[in-house]
Amino acid sequence: MKHETIEKNVGLLMLLMVFAVSIGGLTQIVPLFFQDVTNKPVEGMKPYTALQLEGRDIYIREGCVQCHSQMIRPFRAETERYGHYSVAGESVWDHPFLWGSKRTGPDLARVGGRYSDDWHRAHLYNPRNVVPESKMPAYPWLVTAPVDSSHTETKLKVMRTLGVPYTDEDIAGATATLKGKTEMDALVSYLQVLGTSIKSKR
Ligand code: HEC
Repeated sequence: MKHETIEKNVGLLMLLMVFAVSIGGLTQIVPLFFQDVTNKPVEGMKPYTALQLEGRDIYIREGCVQCHSQMIRPFRAETERYGHYSVAGESVWDHPFLWGSKRTGPDLARVGGRYSDDWHRAHLYNPRNVVPESKMPAYPWLVTAPVDSSHTETKLKVMRTLGVPYTDEDIAGATATLKGKTEMDALVSYLQVLGTSIKSKR
């Protein structure tokens, strides 16, 4: 009888459905905010340098995340190809995280150290130079564009308010470390650090 009342009253049915679903959601999501495994950086992880952080912003600007994920799932097919599966502690300082979901190209979560800097430069300048069948776009302008350092200090400060442990010296010295650097330098330096905090331990 009560069941019938609920089923015939759309508003009430919706309310109760939302209630039921949110219990499931809350029990799964809320604990994640309080667990070390999701909140603590993996041991030995270092915050991005100013150059890497700018490189990361170029990665975002150029839309690399539209074709590349940074999330290795714990399946054998993935770990054999890419290395150790991604763990939450590797992403705690990534704001926003760039896990992505589309894999037109390979996952990049552990690409750091897999190729030389020169390989990356040649590849980003024109992927066909090193991978003839590649359909990745070319990014030749990165070679000549200087890194825009006008907001670097602010970016580091914002990251600090979000919990990334930058020191006052890191912030004060940030702009100077970018002198003479190109966008290509920044992007390659970012790619080379990806996933290395775990790989180095193996
Ligand atoms: C339209 C989709 C697309 C976009 C956008 C794209 N890529 Fe790729 N990427 C690919 C494909 C496909 C491959 C595999 C062929 C190759 O190596 O070129 C690849 C390969 C790579 C590799 C080599 C990975 C490996 O393990 O061999 C790196 C590094 C890379 N891309 C970085 C980038 C960066 C950085 C950007 C942004 C500046 C970017 N890609 C944008 C499609 C894309």
